[in-house]
Amino acid sequence: MSSPISLTEHILDQQRLHPDATGEFSTIMTQIVLGGKMIAQDLRQAGLLDILGSTGDVNIQGEEVQRLDQRANDTFVQVFESSKIVRTVISEEMEEPYTVIPAERTGKYAVFFDPLDGSSNIDVNAPLGAIFSIHRLLPSSSGKENSLYLKPGVEQVAGGYILFGTSTILVYTCGDGVHQFTLNPGIGEFLLSASNITMPSRGKIYSVNEGNRQKWSNEMRNYIAHLQESDVATGRPYSLRYTGCLVADVHRVLLKGGLYLYPGEVMKPEGKLRLMYEAAPLTFVIEQAGGIGSTGFERIRNIQPKAPHQRVPLVIGSREDVELAETFLKPKIE
Ligand code: AHG
Ligand code: MN
Ligand code: MN
Repeated sequence: MSSPISLTEHILDQQRLHPDATGEFSTIMTQIVLGGKMIAQDLRQAGLLDILGSTGDVNIQGEEVQRLDQRANDTFVQVFESSKIVRTVISEEMEEPYTVIPAERTGKYAVFFDPLDGSSNIDVNAPLGAIFSIHRLLPSSSGKENSLYLKPGVEQVAGGYILFGTSTILVYTCGDGVHQFTLNPGIGEFLLSASNITMPSRGKIYSVNEGNRQKWSNEMRNYIAHLQESDVATGRPYSLRYTGCLVADVHRVLLKGGLYLYPGEVMKPEGKLRLMYEAAPLTFVIEQAGGIGSTGFERIRNIQPKAPHQRVPLVIGSREDVELAETFLKPKIE
């Protein structure tokens, strides 16, 4: 049996592959791991502590802020504040980019995150997640303008997520494969549980909030109807699975194949999910495993954000499944 490899060791091993690395990136990953462990601990005892329910506030997305959303956000901000390396964070729960290090020229990195994904699952003990995207900032860049931080997904240094499910796992990529770590609660360490994950080129499961069907375009309805048709040769009908937690649904897609969709709607073409801290980092992971993340029309990672909380339609998963979805969703050139 091979000896266990902790996430800390793995990050340091990766760092050794890059002789010019200063260790700063490794420190950020260590801070994310610490935040993840703290949030996992909160979630494990959520029903026993007075931390469930709403704060009474509504966030920039117009959504009710749960007390655990706020707590998870504060946890990540605190760990980055102590790192002295992250200059700025963009979080789902904060209206503006937040300058962690006021001295503008220090801190080479920006981290974009969704501190708690799938908040509607909090009260029912269903899976939750956290998503992160790490970017390097230009050493010469100074100032506080949002434009400095509006980086497209192709420029990510790392992207990944934590899934608080039956176990707590962390999945990430630095552009050098997708690696998964499982938290051993006894020793408080994330241990390597899968490396260089590659996903099936096609699956048998689709994941979508089908309650929104009446709001979709005809093209989207036709695609889902296609998946529901019976055809033994192409493995249809597909099964439907939907947890209400993007991280959990995308993790299933990573391991089993198939696709997740949160499309635009006729009255809301931008969809629901956020580009910078949901769609782009998850797409980095899925692409590294051999899959695709698309709006249905274009590659998610190529999109230049115009605002920190920009929304984007998302079609993400196995290569063949997403390619077929695109043939339905892309406007036909007559
Ligand atoms: P968040 O809790 O960070 O706001 O994200 C919720 C997202 C995502 O996790 C999930 O897939 C989707 O919203 C569910 O939305 P619907 O309830 O509209 O299906
Ligand atoms: Mn989310
Ligand atoms: Mn969230």
